[in-house]
Amino acid sequence: MGIFLKGERIMMLANKVAIVTGGDSGIGHAISVGLASEGAAVTINYHRDQAAAEETLRHIQQAGGKGQVLQADVSSPADIQRLVDQTVQAFGRLDVMVNNAGMETRTSLLDTTERQFDLVIGVDLKSAFFGTQMAARQMIKQGGGGHIINISSVHEDWPMPGNIAYCCAKGGVRMLTRTAGVELGPQGITVVNVGPGAVDTPIDAKTLADPAQKAKLDAAIPIGHVAEPAEIANLVAWLASDQARYGTATTYFIDGGIMQGSVGL
Ligand SMILES: NC(=O)c1ccc[n+]([C@@H]2O[C@H](COP(=O)([O-])OP(=O)(O)OC[C@H]3O[C@@H](n4cnc5c(N)ncnc54)[C@H](O)[C@@H]3O)[C@@H](O)[C@H]2O)c1
Repeated sequence: MGIFLKGERIMMLANKVAIVTGGDSGIGHAISVGLASEGAAVTINYHRDQAAAEETLRHIQQAGGKGQVLQADVSSPADIQRLVDQTVQAFGRLDVMVNNAGMETRTSLLDTTERQFDLVIGVDLKSAFFGTQMAARQMIKQGGGGHIINISSVHEDWPMPGNIAYCCAKGGVRMLTRTAGVELGPQGITVVNVGPGAVDTPIDAKTLADPAQKAKLDAAIPIGHVAEPAEIANLVAWLASDQARYGTATTYFIDGGIMQGSVGL
């Protein structure tokens, strides 16, 4: 990644400051490492796995990057405010907010309990709403400009029977981003969704651990394989940079082509 000028690598995010929620695992780990490798100082948020977050930070520091680890439950707006405040305390400002944390219950309409519904909406939608709001307030306070990136899913548009609360949450994130992007355009703040297809992370561990199911899924994806987290993080790093200043209030799908038609599924 990166931009080259007369053979020299220019870091896309030099002097930028970012927060990545759920930065200790899967796509969030890859995004944290990717943003730091482009020069950003990164707050790596974790919920329960401090050791994994410290490992992400070690990875960044070994490559010469900068970051910090902060615990927060992103379904709590007070926790998100603390993430923003402690990031500004540590690094002086906030330029990039990546609302990545997510979870799913894999339950159908008929089976989903109120507790499961509230949990998924809290972690996948409420977190993105208040993450967008609190990041935007900070960005405006420091003079405007910035990038807010919500990690959504192809399932913001594409029904997934048996995972309905997740689809409701990601569908909500779809309209959050469209509306917030319009509201914040005049402040120079972009708000976009990244909508991955299938990515090899712990969230899908059960399906991907079965070699037959994994091979079937790989074969169904037009590009030929389930994505590696870094393949998603590369897009996020670009969207976090000023190269991406004209895109807002929309979703960048990155799904190996599967939304346009699977191969033989
Ligand atoms: N893996 C896929 O196939 C796929 C596809 C499309 C979208 N996504 C989205 O990508 C994002 C990252 O998921 P992943 O695939 O890396 O899975 P993952 O399970 O590896 O990561 C999820 C992260 O969210 C964090 N999290 C969960 N609840 C939290 C809470 N209350 N507070 C703070 N953090 C919390 C977890 O600690 C973890 O770091 C999610 O929003 C997910 O919906 C994943």
